[in-house]
Amino acid sequence: MAAASMAKVITIDGPVSSGKGTIARKVAQRLGWHLLDSGALYRLLGLHARNLGVSLDVPEGLVPLARELPCRFVEKNGELLIELDGVDVSDYLRTEEVGELASRVAVHQPVRDALLARQQGFAQSPGLIADGRDMGTVVFRAAPLKIYLTASPEERARRRYNQLKEKGFDANLAALVEDIRNRDERDMGRDVAPLKPAEDALVVDSTDMTIDAVLDRILSEAQQRNLV
Ligand code: DC
Repeated sequence: MAAASMAKVITIDGPVSSGKGTIARKVAQRLGWHLLDSGALYRLLGLHARNLGVSLDVPEGLVPLARELPCRFVEKNGELLIELDGVDVSDYLRTEEVGELASRVAVHQPVRDALLARQQGFAQSPGLIADGRDMGTVVFRAAPLKIYLTASPEERARRRYNQLKEKGFDANLAALVEDIRNRDERDMGRDVAPLKPAEDALVVDSTDMTIDAVLDRILSEAQQRNLV
């Protein structure tokens, strides 16, 4: 974990649709730091396995795919494009359908181990914003600032609904609340790397906060800790 402990890392963990993706991207932009969207790796793996007809429930088949994931993260006009096997899957990756696949592959410890070094490799100078579920508890335990970002399930469903509609996908609010509760249960209740705040995490409940207010809170905390 040499690289991970040397570079400055701010971890942002939290449940699905807590806004951590948006916040992580904005913090990274403001600081000019690198960004790790660890959920995208699990989503890519779920999608890759499904495309190849590999079972999502058998870790032995998934581990080699996790080690050799044929993906690329390409920055284009300030946007992050994600390719799988040379195909742009950036938008499709964010769908509930692929989130479901990700959630299933993420429960296997050998799969998580296979993705660990790849994630830690993102910790490069001048710093890294790492977004996920176990960034502060497992992947970057020594991070000097750990944020646990949350919001009520109803508020998260509402945000997800707006996000999907904006992208032209069909969405049903009641179904999304249900889906979010199920995903929470699975992510928080699993034996392997369950979603929970790190002991030294700062918990930020964004239910009644604007994106800018959350951003300011994190940036001022980073300043207080002499990270910027
Ligand atoms: O953050 P996300 O919605 O893109 O994550 C997709 C799934 O991957 C989610 O069900 C939890 C899992 N995940 C994980 O187990 N560990 C991470 N660090 C990131 C995501």
